[in-house]
Formats: sequence, C-alpha cells, structure tokens
Amino acid sequence: MKGIILAGGNGTRLYPATLGVSKQLLPVYDKPLIYHPLSVLMLAGIREILVISTRRDLDGFRRLLGDGGELGLSLCYAVQDEPRGLADAFLIGADHVGADQVALILGDNVFHGPRFSEVLRTAARGVDGCVLFGYPVHDPERYAVGEADDDGALISLEEKPRRPRSNRAITGLYFYDNDVLDIAKNLRPSARGELEITDVNLRYLAAGKARLIDLGRGFVWLDTGTHESLSEAGQYVRIMENRQGVRIACVEEIALRMGFIDRESCYRLGQRLAKSPYGRYVMEIAAHP
Ligand code: DAU
Repeated sequence: MKGIILAGGNGTRLYPATLGVSKQLLPVYDKPLIYHPLSVLMLAGIREILVISTRRDLDGFRRLLGDGGELGLSLCYAVQDEPRGLADAFLIGADHVGADQVALILGDNVFHGPRFSEVLRTAARGVDGCVLFGYPVHDPERYAVGEADDDGALISLEEKPRRPRSNRAITGLYFYDNDVLDIAKNLRPSARGELEITDVNLRYLAAGKARLIDLGRGFVWLDTGTHESLSEAGQYVRIMENRQGVRIACVEEIALRMGFIDRESCYRLGQRLAKSPYGRYVMEIAAHP
C-alpha cells in the first residue's frame, strides 16, 4: 500500500503564524505537526509516501524529511498549486499510487490511542473499497459525518451536515483500493469548487464498498486548524509525554520498532539532535529498546 500526506492549503485560520511557514511544519509541543500523520502511515506499515504541499512550502518538508532513507522510508514530493480539494491528491499522486492500494492522510490530523498500529495494519490488509475511521465528537457538524451498521458497513455519509445523523466524525485518514484513481479522475468539483473526498466516499457507499472503523472513546483524535486547537494538541502531547516518559509520534522510534532501521542507525539519528530532550530520548530508545 502506498501513502499520501496532503499538507497543502494556506493555513489562513492560523495567520500570522502561517504567513512564513506551512501549518504542517509548526510545532505540536516538541515536534513538527507532520510527524503525526507520518507516524500513522509508518504504523500502518507503509514506507512509500508522497508528500503534497504548496510550491512555497515544499522545500521546508524536503529539508525536514529528505528522501526518507534515514527512517527506512522512500519519500517523494509534489506540488498542489491551488487547494483544489482533498481528492485532488489522487490526481496529483496517480503515478505514485500506480496499481497499488493507497492510504491518504491529512497533514494536520493528530491520532493517538491504544493498539492503533494493530487497528491500522488489520484495516490496511486487502482493502476492497474504502475504509474510513470514525470518531465521536460533540460538534459533528464541522466534519463529514457517517453511520455504520453492526458489521461496520457504512450506511450514511454527509459532509458538514446541519443536522448530523450521528456524532461520528469522519477523520482525515482514508484507505482505498485502486479504483479511487478512476473515481477521483471522474469527479466533478463541488459547489465550493473543490474535489471533495466525501464525494469519493459516497461513490464507494453507493457501490456497497465502504467500511467505517470506530476509533472509540478511549482514543484521541485532535484537530489543529485553529490557534486554540493547535495549542491544545501541544498541551495533550506535553502532558502525555511528561507523565509516561514516552514520546508520541517519534518517527525514529517508530522506524526502529517497525524494523525499518536498526539500533545503530537510530542511535545516530538521535545523536544529531542530542542537545534536545527529543534527541536524547531517541538515543536512549536505540540503546535500550
Ligand atoms: O479533518 C477531517 C475532515 O477533513 C473531514 O471530516 C472532512 O470530510 C474533510 O472534508 C476535511 O474537512 P476540513 O474542513 O478540515 O477540510 P479543509 O478544507 O480544512 O482541509 C483539511 C486539510 O487539508 C487542511 O490542513 C488543508 C489541507 N488541504 C485542503 C485542501 C482543500 C490541502 O492540502 N489541499 C486542499 O486542496
């Protein structure tokens, strides 16, 4: 399965913080926001990943992540000139996906929860149709909202409904079979002129090929679209990390635990950051995994 991280947009709701730098490069406490979606794809076992961003910001991501080789990944980059919608990722990324299945994740989504890796790897196995991830929120009207039957089949889906039929928000993580490339190619822009991911998912729903996995209340899914929510995400990460002594979305640790890199390489990655507590944590993990 291939991966795509969509990290474009202008971050206008975070101005002036994003006037000079991409939202997805801003820190969530101790690390850049994009480490979070990157971690999710890595935990799903995905190693070939396309990062899509604006022409202005792409070099920042390249500087941060390079070709991914040091993490045992293969990263490539593509520009999205205008925010033409989330499904535009499949037009831009068609060559990258090739004949494979694909996971799309929004560059500003933060996930954290028990046995997430297991959930992801099970869901990624032999995707036939699409797999969406639902999360209970108190303000579902801000998101796509879905309902599933007892077997996890999606039975309804609406984008930002005024009267939501459930409190299940559809998160910014999507698994698809290869049909998504054709579906995206034939999609019409919505009233707001965008290729909507919800329209893609509605096609799968109509074909009876959409599943909804409930992430449940023990899980954490955070938004980072406003100053308030970005700051809250940082506080969550700080509290959890300080309390437990483990780091959330530490890409070096995940690469080591997933077997993408060995202990020596991991240690060297930590050494380069040794002046920061993050770097010392990576060295410690490599020495005593
Ligand atoms: O976060 C989950 C929600 O994400 C879903 O429930 C919705 O169905 C989905 O449409 C999306 O809703 P948003 O209102 O959050 O979408 P937004 O336009 O804000 O875009 C989400 C992120 O994707 C944002 O960080 C910018 C980036 N983006 C967006 C567009 C439209 C791009 O990189 N390119 C784009 O063309």
